[in-house]
Amino acid sequence: MKILGYLLGSAVLLLAACLAYFHFKGIPDYQYDPPAAVLHLQVPRDSARVARGAKIATMHCMECHAGPDGKLVGKPMNDLPPMFGQLHTLNITRDSMHGIGAWTDGELYYFLRTGIHKDGHWSPPFMPKYSLMADEDLQSVIAWLRSDDPRIAPDSREYPPNEYNLFVKTLANTLFGPPPFPEKPLVIPNPADKIAFGKYVADDLSNCYICHSADLLKVNSLEPEKSFGYYGGGTPMRNDAGETVTSANITMDPETGIGKWTEEQFIQAVRFAKKPDGSMLSRPMGPHSMLTDEEVSAIFAYLKTVPVIKNPVQRYQASVGK
Ligand code: HEC
Ligand code: HEC
Repeated sequence: MKILGYLLGSAVLLLAACLAYFHFKGIPDYQYDPPAAVLHLQVPRDSARVARGAKIATMHCMECHAGPDGKLVGKPMNDLPPMFGQLHTLNITRDSMHGIGAWTDGELYYFLRTGIHKDGHWSPPFMPKYSLMADEDLQSVIAWLRSDDPRIAPDSREYPPNEYNLFVKTLANTLFGPPPFPEKPLVIPNPADKIAFGKYVADDLSNCYICHSADLLKVNSLEPEKSFGYYGGGTPMRNDAGETVTSANITMDPETGIGKWTEEQFIQAVRFAKKPDGSMLSRPMGPHSMLTDEEVSAIFAYLKTVPVIKNPVQRYQASVGK
């Protein structure tokens, strides 16, 4: 008993020491180490790239960075589970003091892949890392960030740096870390190869699997198909009113998934957030109207190849008359 007591006491002490260490250490720094080609990257700012980048930014960056007037000046992240604390996004307008106007294309590219800033400080996963997005698509986002779109016109509104709580600091010292910078060029699959293209659009371009797998902390962002409960849904999320909305099972299980859906119903749900019965899906399932019918049809073809998961999800019920 005495030995057990000792062991337990030491374990508690060790844990307390670790937590204190994480608290003072904070989020670890990482080496800013882009390949030479990235250091000198200059993304051409032609209109085709800017248009493609606007589409991708609408799907990703706007969701988190757009303030109430639509400008990308940052905003509070109210939809995060409370254990992560109160966090906010930052100003990514072209303002060189308060936004990212002074960043080089290479700095942005390396940051969007790894989360590592040029001074070595690292942004935890609340800022997603685009590890698998094709080079061309990620560069289009950068072309757009440099464009004269009014949503990113220089703006001096600014949030202070985030203060992370002990839970996030502990995760950042244990579980979290920057993904490796891709070693090989990442190319967009040929749309004629519908399944490969659909997987690209779903996993790498739109990140559908992050919300639609079973656990946010068990997604595999380098090999999405190895995520726990891949596309079987069941992750509790929050809508803008702070209500819990659980992600849907979108594997082809006929009872608990979308095995009985037609492609047209799927396109309506994904592009316009409309359910087959005509009612609307709740946020955070946003309408992905920037995806084309062809892209969404390819996602549907790909989902038909994903292993079916039987998972009856307790779905969100909008309370009537609110
Ligand atoms: C899920 C929400 C989310 C999405 C989506 C998102 N961001 Fe962020 N972003 C954040 C958060 C949170 C931070 C602050 C990170 C920190 O505290 O270090 C951030 C920080 C940044 C920064 C660093 C700014 C600075 O001054 O340090 C840049 C650049 C950035 N985001 C660009 C983008 C771009 C471009 C996109 C779209 C491709 C995007 N973000 C999508 C949440 C998001
Ligand atoms: C930010 C998280 C998030 C992302 C990203 C996301 N979804 Fe969803 N999705 C949800 C949630 C939550 C629901 C359930 C909404 C509800 O019950 O009203 C949902 C519902 C759905 C449904 C309806 C299924 C049904 O049975 O009613 C489909 C289809 C769907 N999503 C497909 C997709 C596809 C395809 C993508 C990528 C292009 C995607 N989602 C991206 C969170 C997300």
